[in-house]
Amino acid sequence: MAIQYLALATMIVLYSLMFIGGYISAAGLGLTCPDWPLCPSGILPTEEYFIEWTHRLVAATTGALVIATMVACLINKNADLKIKVTSSLATVFVITQITLGALVIDLKLHAVLVSIHLGIGILLFAMVLLTTLFAFRISRISIKSKV
Ligand code: HEM
Repeated sequence: MAIQYLALATMIVLYSLMFIGGYISAAGLGLTCPDWPLCPSGILPTEEYFIEWTHRLVAATTGALVIATMVACLINKNADLKIKVTSSLATVFVITQITLGALVIDLKLHAVLVSIHLGIGILLFAMVLLTTLFAFRISRISIKSKV
């Protein structure tokens, strides 16, 4: 997949994840699934754990996409330092965020941790957005250089 579309897909999946997280928080569903990484129902969800389970599944998908985008940026010969830095920072933030998600559950939604979870989510989105913008710029440059 072209680097710009991979980055765009990552951004769309991440945005959906943040939307689901906001819903869980606002609806007070944060502790419906008290275990980590799986809910008590195991790999597949029951109705009771569905929203929390979806947040975790989409988080795992986001993690894989963010790492794939970083690898694509690091091996792309047209990639400059800026996109390598933003995609690498996105990887650092996504790993931190997933680890923090476990702590949020473990410490029973401690207010400081939930706030940090939101804050890192925003930093992660900013890095993925910048990576996407840089990736579209790179793709334009490589098309122009072929003409
Ligand atoms: C890339 C990974 C993740 C992102 C970007 C993300 C993002 C978010 C966001 C934006 C919220 C809403 C926060 C708020 O409105 O204050 C949220 C809530 C939440 N997230 Fe995540 N999340 C991620 C991974 C995880 C993981 C792996 C877990 C747990 C296994 C988790 C557990 C939770 C919980 C329990 C809440 C609700 C907190 C509450 O009830 O106030 N998150 N997440």
